[in-house]
Amino acid sequence: MTQAPKILAFAGALRKESTNKKTVRVAAEGARKAGAVVTVIDLKDYPLPVYDGDIETNEGFPENVTKLQELMIANDGFLIASPEYNSSISGALKNVIDWTSRANGEIAGLAAFKGKVAAIMSASPGGLGGLRGLFDIRKILSTIDVIVLPAQIAVSHSYQAFDDDGNFNDEKMQENVERLGANLAEILIKLND
Ligand code: FNR
Repeated sequence: MTQAPKILAFAGALRKESTNKKTVRVAAEGARKAGAVVTVIDLKDYPLPVYDGDIETNEGFPENVTKLQELMIANDGFLIASPEYNSSISGALKNVIDWTSRANGEIAGLAAFKGKVAAIMSASPGGLGGLRGLFDIRKILSTIDVIVLPAQIAVSHSYQAFDDDGNFNDEKMQENVERLGANLAEILIKLND
């Protein structure tokens, strides 16, 4: 029997009430329903300094970099929802990618990314839903050998988008975000065959 695909899900936002965290949780549920084992993490639990080559050289890698790299390596794919900051990727997400892309002891450079498959989403209180940031996230992930699914979702007016249980008020949006999570799971199942 094919092993269930493993997916690591996280948001490129840190704040507690983050609508990107809510979005990625809905996608994670869709992936679970489609047969994946999904681990949802909060990047706030893995604080990191801004990447600095002197820290790497003089102090070695922060423990949280190694923890994140191990988690990424243990999973087949990523579900990522990230805010757009000034029309691009959030600093939190870029910093995590920068640290975890590095060779770290036994872990080869890009080992956390090579051959992984990702589905990307964004949520924003604005009308475009953070869509412009997705182009940069796609570009960055693609250049570090992540296969990014063509489908992506931008949730506009995100501060009004969720009910108290963290589901979308709009049934269609709930279905679409769950479907994106399910698509990732289904593709990983096919790849694992
Ligand atoms: C933003 N925000 C924002 N929104 C957007 O749609 N396009 C943008 O370019 C920006 N730029 C931007 C820069 C900075 C520095 C901040 C702090 C915010 C607003 C942003 O979408 C909003 O804060 C979201 O709520 C962030 O997502 P979470 O925290 O709800 O996940």
